[in-house]
Amino acid sequence: MASTLYIGLMSGTSLDGVDGVLADFSGRGIRTLDAAFTPFPADLRAELMALQAAGANELEREALAANALARCYAECVKTLAAPGPVRAVAVHGQTIRHRPELGFTRQTNNPALLAELAGIDVIADFRSRDVAAGGQGAPLVPAFHEARFGKRNQVRVVVNIGGIGNISVLHGDGRVTGYDTGPGNVLMDLWIARHQGKAYDQDGAWAATGTVDAPLLDLLLDEPYFRQPPPKSTGRDLFHADWLDAKLARRPGVSPADVQATLTRLTAVTIARAIQAEADAQAVYVCGGGAYNGVLLRDLADALGGTIPVASTDTLGVAPNRVEALAFAWLGYRFLRRQPGNLPAVTGAAGPRILGALYPA
Ligand SMILES: Nc1ncnc2c1ncn2[C@@H]1O[C@H](COP(=O)(O)OP(=O)(O)O)[C@@H](O)[C@H]1O
Ligand SMILES: [Mg+2]
Repeated sequence: MASTLYIGLMSGTSLDGVDGVLADFSGRGIRTLDAAFTPFPADLRAELMALQAAGANELEREALAANALARCYAECVKTLAAPGPVRAVAVHGQTIRHRPELGFTRQTNNPALLAELAGIDVIADFRSRDVAAGGQGAPLVPAFHEARFGKRNQVRVVVNIGGIGNISVLHGDGRVTGYDTGPGNVLMDLWIARHQGKAYDQDGAWAATGTVDAPLLDLLLDEPYFRQPPPKSTGRDLFHADWLDAKLARRPGVSPADVQATLTRLTAVTIARAIQAEADAQAVYVCGGGAYNGVLLRDLADALGGTIPVASTDTLGVAPNRVEALAFAWLGYRFLRRQPGNLPAVTGAAGPRILGALYPA
C-alpha cells in the first residue's frame, strides 16, 4: 500500500524561512507527526527580497536563488523524522511576483533539485493552474481550513496572518469564502527592521509602547485594494516600503513607536472589516506568525467589537505556525489523488482544478 505520509513546505511573504510538517493522511483524519522550521540564510533572504522588484540580470539571479532555496527546503525535509517512506513532498516555493491580472504568479523554486536531494517525489507550483483558469491563484488554504477546522452549523473564520493576511470563512453549510485582506506582518516587519534592526516585533512589545495615530490610520486605510470586491489577492507587489513611505510623507512627525502601533491596528482593522463583510462569525481562529503577537490579537478582538471569541488554531489542535505547511501537504495529497485543490468561489477560477506539478524522485 502506498505511504500516507506527506511533507508540506511553506515559505511565505515574510521571507523568514521555511516551515515544514510531516503529516499522515491515513483514514484516521489529518495528523501532524513532526514539524520543523529552517530559517533562510541572511544572503538568501536578502536576494529573495531584492528579487521582489525588477532588477538587473533577474533570470540568472532567480535561478541561483531557486537552487539555494531548494537546498534549504531539502535541509528542512531532512530534519523531519518520518517513521516510514514519505509519499511526496509538497512545496509552495517562494513568491517573487504575483500578477494574476497579467496571467501569472511566480513561486521561485527548483523542484527538480529538491527531488534529487531529498530522494522523494516532489509536487510544486500549486498556484499556476488556478491562474490559468482565470483565478487569483490565491488564497489556496481555505479548502484545507474547511477540511480541518470546519464545523457543521457554525460560522467559523480562520485568519492566517503571515506577511499578508487572508481569511477563510467557513459558513457551516459547506460554503467557503475568503480572500487576502492586505498586509499581515509585512509592514510591521519592515518598520521594526528599519528602526531597530529586528526581524519582527516580538509579541507586539514595541507596538504596545506606542499609541495609534488616527489620522495616519485613516491614510493607510485609504487604499483601493481594501475597497475592491473579492476575489482578490495581494503581496509585496503592492504592500512594500514605498507604499508605506508615501503614506507617511502625508502625515509627518508620528513617532516610530506610534507608527508601529498604527500598523498593527491597520492589520487588525482590515481583517475585522473583511470578516464583518462576509458573515456573522461565531468564532475566529488565528494562525500564521501573527498569532504570536498578543497586541495584534487584542486589536483584532477589539476591532470585531469585543463580542466574537478570538483564539489561535492551537485550540483546534494545530499550532498556528504549522497550519500553512500542513495545508500544502494536504494539497499534495489531493494532487496525487487527482482531486481539485482550489475553491472557485474563493479564487475566481472558472472551475475546480487539480493543482501542482510532479517531479518524481
Ligand atoms: N512571537 C512573535 N511575535 C510577533 N510576531 C511574530 C512572532 N512570531 C512570528 N511573528 C510574525 O510572523 C511572521 C512569520 O509568519 P509566517 O506565518 O511564517 O508568514 P509567511 O507565511 O509570510 O512566512 C514573522 O515575520 C513575524 O512578523
Ligand atoms: Mg514564514
